[in-house]
Amino acid sequence: MLVADDLETLAASRSKLPGRVAFVPTMGALHEGHLALIRRARSLGDAVVVSIFVNPRQFGPGEDLDRYPRTLPADLAACEAEGVDLVFTPTTSVMYPREPVVTISSGVMGTIVEGATRPGHFDGMLTVVLKLLNAVRPDLALFGEKDAQQLAMIRRMVADLNVPVEIVGVPTVREPDGLALSSRNRFLSPAERTTALTLSRALKAGAVAAPSGPSAVVRAAEEVLAGETALHLDYVVLVDPATFTEVPASYEGTAVLAVAGKVGATHLIDNMIISLGG
Ligand code: PAJ
Repeated sequence: MLVADDLETLAASRSKLPGRVAFVPTMGALHEGHLALIRRARSLGDAVVVSIFVNPRQFGPGEDLDRYPRTLPADLAACEAEGVDLVFTPTTSVMYPREPVVTISSGVMGTIVEGATRPGHFDGMLTVVLKLLNAVRPDLALFGEKDAQQLAMIRRMVADLNVPVEIVGVPTVREPDGLALSSRNRFLSPAERTTALTLSRALKAGAVAAPSGPSAVVRAAEEVLAGETALHLDYVVLVDPATFTEVPASYEGTAVLAVAGKVGATHLIDNMIISLGG
C-alpha cells in the first residue's frame, strides 16, 4: 500500500495505478461504515484510493474540530487490511498552503436542513471534496447515504461544474440495534448512546407511517423524538432526495426522512429513504 502526504507523491503514486480508480474520501477514525465504502470501491474499481483529512473548513466555530478523533495508525492498518492501493494523508498546509480566494459556494441548498444547523459547513465540505477530486483524479468516488444532504450536494456540484467523475452512493451501515455508525459515536456514554438510538427509532416509526402520507410520516417521527428529553432536536424533515426541500403533503415517490440532534455535546444525524404513494 502506498501512502502519500503531499501532492507530488500523490500524483506520482496515482499515475502508477492501473485501470479505473475508485476514491473514498474520509476524515479518518475509520469504522465499518467507511469500510463498506472501501469494499464497494474495491468491487467497482481496479484500484482504490482513500483520503484521510480532517478538513477544518467544514467545521464551524464552537464545533468539534479540536476533539474530532484522529486514529491514523489504526486507519492505515484498516486500509491495508482492506487492500487499499493508495492512501492520501495530507496536512492542513498541503491542502491549504494559503488562504484560498476562490472557493465553492453551496448556494441556498447549503443553507437548509443540516446547513441551517451548521452555517458554512457545506461550502467547506464541497471545497475540500473538489480539491481532493482534482488531486486524485478518480474515475468514480463513493459517499455514504448516511450523510444524505452531503451526497446530494456533491452530486449537484459534479453536475453543475461538469466534474468528470461518477458519484456512487452507499447505504448506511448500522449497529444491530439500529444506531448509524459514526466517528462521533465514540464520544457517547452508555446513557447517551441509548438516547442516540431515538434517532433511528424515530426513522423506523416514520417509515411505518408511510402508507398514511408525508404528514403522518413526520408526525410519527416527531412523537418518538418528543419522548426523549435528553435529545436536543435540531430538525426532523421529509425532503426531496435531490434538492433537500420539504415535500408537499400530496407527494408520491421517494423521499428522505432526515433527523439531527445533539446528545450531550455530540451532534448526530441520521436519515432513511421512504417510499410514498403507489
Ligand atoms: P466522514 O464523516 O469521515 O465520512 C466519510 C464517508 O463515509 C462519507 O461519504 C460518509 O457518508 C460515509 N459514512 C460515514 N458513516 C457511514 C455509515 N454509517 N454508513 C455508510 N457510510 C458512512 O463525510 C466526510 O467524512 C467528509 O465530509 C468528507 C466527504 C471526507 C469531506 O471532508
